[in-house]
Amino acid sequence: MHNAAFAALGLDWRYLAFEVDPKNLRAAIEGAKVMGFAGINLTVPHKLLAMEMVDALDDSAKQWGAVNTIKFGGAGVSPADASVHAGGKPALHSVGFNTDADAIVTALREDLKVELRGAKVLLLGAGGAGRTAALKLASEDVAELFLVNRTTSKAEEIAAEIKKQSPSVKVSVGYPKCGVDLILNATSLGLKPDDALPLDEKQFSLNQTRAVYDMIYRPAETKLLATAKAAGCRTANGLGMLLHQGAKAFEIWTGRPAPLAVMRRALEQNIYGH
Ligand code: ATR
Repeated sequence: MHNAAFAALGLDWRYLAFEVDPKNLRAAIEGAKVMGFAGINLTVPHKLLAMEMVDALDDSAKQWGAVNTIKFGGAGVSPADASVHAGGKPALHSVGFNTDADAIVTALREDLKVELRGAKVLLLGAGGAGRTAALKLASEDVAELFLVNRTTSKAEEIAAEIKKQSPSVKVSVGYPKCGVDLILNATSLGLKPDDALPLDEKQFSLNQTRAVYDMIYRPAETKLLATAKAAGCRTANGLGMLLHQGAKAFEIWTGRPAPLAVMRRALEQNIYGH
């Protein structure tokens, strides 16, 4: 999506993938910085590690405790953050951002027309993606958040964090006794064709929600989404989230509006082949 966007804007830039062992992450970030990269994206497990490896953190990274986007150079950083060499030349520096959290909300609004303020949400999963989603939803003033995870203690930790950060949000661990407006799957269940549903239908029926969002985008329709659709729910997969975290990163690096239609088209072609 980035290469398609660079081409559409006539930028002679390239987006490339590198596999980096976590123990070499600091060296990789420093290397990219001194080689004049405009920026980088990071995925698991680097998002948490990079928090300690950038020169400055944008509020988005501070708030969500993870860095998925780094920008090198001077632009876009407040003078207080940008250290200056004795010679007056701005020092090379790196700034960490998080574009994942906002992308969740943008995708939910765009793809499912969900109004989060006042909504009841059942969130499945309490790994990295689940944690960011839970904290972000709480900050959007959902009315009630139900957290379900295979490892209950991880859901409990997140619930405790939300109680501190967003005391007005009712948060509990376990399946709701009432209907909800949205189920959000942030587990990895559904990536493989023989995976079980991430939801225990004996404890909560898909008839009790209006909409289901699955962060998984490959396959395009997980078992959860197919079952939800059959139950009459509005559904969407995680492509919108992938698009919007990328679009925001693009804007951070280039300072130009992301060509969203071009980027979405490139994603669809690359991921689904049509
Ligand atoms: P990510 O960064 O994508 O969130 P992760 O941190 O490894 O990745 O989290 C994976 C999520 O999927 C977790 O909620 C995990 O549950 P646990 O916290 O109990 O590990 C969930 N998950 C993965 N495999 C699962 C399975 N077979 N059954 C139920 N939940 C599963």
